[in-house]
Amino acid sequence: MGPFADLADIVSRDEPMARHTSFGVGGPVSYFVEPRHWRELQVVYRRSWGEGLPVRVLGRGCNTLVSDGPHRWVVIATRRLRWFRRRGRRIDAGAGVDLPRLVASAEAWGMGGFESFAGIPGTVGGAVAMNAGGRHGSIADRLVGAVVAFPGEAPRWMDAGELGLGYRVSRVVGGRPFLFSASFELDRASPRRIGQRRRSIVAQKRATQPVGARSAGCVFKNPPGDSAGRLIDKAGLKGARVGDAVVSHKHANFIVNRGEATAADILALIELIEERVRETFGVRLELEIEVWTDDEERRRYGRA
Ligand code: EPU
Repeated sequence: MGPFADLADIVSRDEPMARHTSFGVGGPVSYFVEPRHWRELQVVYRRSWGEGLPVRVLGRGCNTLVSDGPHRWVVIATRRLRWFRRRGRRIDAGAGVDLPRLVASAEAWGMGGFESFAGIPGTVGGAVAMNAGGRHGSIADRLVGAVVAFPGEAPRWMDAGELGLGYRVSRVVGGRPFLFSASFELDRASPRRIGQRRRSIVAQKRATQPVGARSAGCVFKNPPGDSAGRLIDKAGLKGARVGDAVVSHKHANFIVNRGEATAADILALIELIEERVRETFGVRLELEIEVWTDDEERRRYGRA
């Protein structure tokens, strides 16, 4: 176990990231760690830095494309940081709590607002980091603040305003600082009303997106005033494929792994889309998903 010999119950070696990403791709990482509390997290960070091992933070891997590797990284998975509680109109939740679980609990408690995020997969940490959302609002609308830890420092509270949440972006992207837990404020509402709204949002999503397919949600951000899905569609790219990576017929801003796609297939398809949309419309699409590559791969693919 190298630097983590005494932490065998929370560390796996050579763990394939394909098991931990919604695309179902990604090569093995040297150490996959699932800390249960702040002290373990601190030890993992300290030792990783001591060994010169790059650290990356993962929620449910719903918005991340991990390259085929192998990778000499430490991946810290937040999923065991999964406590949550209710205080009046507030909910405090650990970074690893599944967002759908929180949506369901808020509804049962008669706390409205979170149903806007129905059908969005992922964890609290991931949702805050990328300010997840859609046409019904984004996490920023409900976030009061978060407990975060900067490298080498003790965790501290930051108000939502300090967290730099914008369109699919925040200061906590990439685990620096590490988001430990987040607090949200909701409205009082009847579970029945919340349930009605949730069902209509989910139905709308199912009608327009490949829900349940192996994807990472929208691949590109919407350019100002337009929709990436519309542009990709109009460029004639629905159904375009590289290996088993395919542009969804239902929503062109989704790439779906139809079976045995590799990260290289998905990256090649991303490049093809970028080029075609640039040639056709003169628009430079920006990635919404996070791509994890090594230095060498970065040179090969020309992206971070
Ligand atoms: N459109 C097409 N073809 C397509 C897809 C969309 O012509 O293949 C058109 C639609 O008809 C519509 C317009 O493009 O006129 C916008 O499409 P849509 O309403 O589906 O919304 P979107 O802008 O593509 C955004 C978020 C989604 C979120 C939906 C619904 C981004 C990049 N995407 O999509 O978020 O679910 O609104 O709220 O902000 C995600 O972040 O992973 C994601 C899926």
